[in-house]
Amino acid sequence: MKSLEDLKRLQQQVKAKTSLRHAAGTQVIVGMGTCGIAAGAREVMSAILNEIAKRNLEDVTVRQTGCIGMCEKEVLVDVVRVGQPRITYGRVTAENVPTIVAEHVVNGRIVEELVVAKIEE
Ligand code: FES
Repeated sequence: MKSLEDLKRLQQQVKAKTSLRHAAGTQVIVGMGTCGIAAGAREVMSAILNEIAKRNLEDVTVRQTGCIGMCEKEVLVDVVRVGQPRITYGRVTAENVPTIVAEHVVNGRIVEELVVAKIEE
């Protein structure tokens, strides 16, 4: 597992490349409450930041959120694309991340087998 410092450094690197001002871009939100971290949210966050950096995606904002009351479905990852419903993926592992990024973040195709909630914006 990466240390918290490694994770923060990686986050800084991605932030430097990503404009935080473009609300029009895609948002990826990781549940990093106690239950999320216990379920592996740090590894998932790290995998997301790595994948975004690897693909040089500049129109994506990665954020974290706290606990939303679905402990058993952690790690939760939301993907919010303009003009599409907000999608919550559950029981996400670092291994799921390349698929979510390639399919949904890049191509707008929801990874149905991992979806636990859809919220119409
Ligand atoms: S700690 Fe996550 S739902 Fe309670």
